[in-house]
Amino acid sequence: MTNQLLKIENLTKKYKEVPVLNQINAEVNSGDVITLIGPSGAGKSTLLRCLNLLEKPTDGIVSFDGENIISYHDNQLDQIRTEMGMVFQQFNLFPHLTVLENIKLAPMKVKNKSEDEASNKAYELLKMVGLSDKANVYPKSLSGGQAQRIAIARALAMEPKLMLFDEPTSALDPEMVGEVLQVMNQLADNGMTMIVVTHEMNFAKNVANQVWFMSDHQIEEKADPKEFFANPKTENAKKFLNNLLV
Ligand SMILES: Nc1ncnc2c1ncn2[C@@H]1O[C@H](COP(=O)(O)OP(=O)(O)OP(=O)(O)O)[C@@H](O)[C@H]1O
Ligand SMILES: [Mg+2]
Repeated sequence: MTNQLLKIENLTKKYKEVPVLNQINAEVNSGDVITLIGPSGAGKSTLLRCLNLLEKPTDGIVSFDGENIISYHDNQLDQIRTEMGMVFQQFNLFPHLTVLENIKLAPMKVKNKSEDEASNKAYELLKMVGLSDKANVYPKSLSGGQAQRIAIARALAMEPKLMLFDEPTSALDPEMVGEVLQVMNQLADNGMTMIVVTHEMNFAKNVANQVWFMSDHQIEEKADPKEFFANPKTENAKKFLNNLLV
């Protein structure tokens, strides 16, 4: 039996009558690693932001763990953000807090964890992302790749059921991309459910179990990655893949 975590039905987002997401339908099962790819402006970021309600969808249903969250009130948003971790291009660590404090903050404030419990979890996560020695430094002394790994640890500290990544490696110097992808790889191996917007086609090919190809405000193809890259079905996908090669 599959364990469905997320179901998106006819999800539509318009900005001033202009559709950016047009009747999206998709499903995510627990343990899925999905890469969301497609040309600039297709609506990838908007889709992620509509899932965790950073943007309010115009219409449709997003069922998360069996509950339609679209009509959630503002006071329920914390809960959604807890259960869906999000990592962006910019890491947005709090500059005035140490790495450890950055990771501990939300679990203590939002989930009422004790200081000890939050610390233990934070050290465990620091170990996982390979940065145990950085617990007591401030974000400004971290490299981009280190900061992004801390941002991932911070999201994981909330014990989310789903992780959303929006181009987590796009702002990094090339030599730091690998260390972040490695952490994401490890997360995928450990069974974390993830939706990842990325330009890293090797991640899409080798780590994801599904590719969603977005173009013109819709998901035009959902496919097994090997199948998608070998044999894209739509003209837009063929064009997108050809452009990657040049
Ligand atoms: N707040 C907003 N107001 C008006 N239009 C917006 C807003 N946010 C996004 N859009 C428009 O929605 C469309 C999709 O944007 P989105 O950022 O989701 O694309 P994307 O696929 O993530 O692109 P990229 O690969 O460049 O990040 C674009 O045409 C964009 O201009
Ligand atoms: Mg985007």
